Amino acid sequence: MLPEIEPFNKWTPYDGCLSLFLNSCIIWLMTPILDHKSLEFISQSPEQTRRLGAKLGHLLRGGEVICLEGDLGAGKTVLAQGIGRGWGTVSALISPTFVLIREHRRPSGSQRLLHVDFYRLSAAEAWELGLEDWMEDPQAVVIVEWPERARDILPPENLWVRLEIAEESRRRLLFTAHGPKYLNQLHEFRRAAFGV
Ligand SMILES: Nc1ncnc2c1ncn2[C@@H]1O[C@H](COP(=O)(O)OP(=O)(O)O)[C@@H](O)[C@H]1O
Ligand SMILES: [Mg+2]
Repeated sequence: MLPEIEPFNKWTPYDGCLSLFLNSCIIWLMTPILDHKSLEFISQSPEQTRRLGAKLGHLLRGGEVICLEGDLGAGKTVLAQGIGRGWGTVSALISPTFVLIREHRRPSGSQRLLHVDFYRLSAAEAWELGLEDWMEDPQAVVIVEWPERARDILPPENLWVRLEIAEESRRRLLFTAHGPKYLNQLHEFRRAAFGV
């Protein structure tokens, strides 16, 4: 007489614990946390960068300064487009390089999103345009491309994003929070984007 064979796929509580443990390991390995105030992400496509930006834009309440640092073609404008999408702009964000500052609004409400490019704008010109006031305005979200060219007029508290070209369609994004408000927002962003 043949011995009774246990069905291979029979579930036991042990399997449940094991899969929970393996899932935790996978999440831990994927969690892009460098330290408590930084978050790293490798984007595989422009659309993935936009989607990530949209998760961040959705969390913005006004009064934030988001700095996007990276070489030409790194994806600063693509990320800004996503942030604008998540924040709810009526008009699509395009590169502000030639107009220096573009203002966007939502279908309703008085908040504004300002998309600034310091590639050609000098800190003195920005000061004349009143950018410092906008960066203190709780009704405005300010996204700055080439922020390293205008460090003097940027507030010390901000969310700094460094974008690096890894390969043709891969970009490394490093988000760093400067200040307690941005630290809270970075943690919220991590939960919204990665569930951890
Ligand atoms: N993973 C990616 N994320 C963002 N952009 C990407 C990615 N892969 C390729 N690209 C391309 O890189 C370019 C980035 O352009 P842009 O956002 O204008 O750069 P920047 O504003 O930094 O000069 C776009 O042509 C975009 O399609
Ligand atoms: Mg750009």
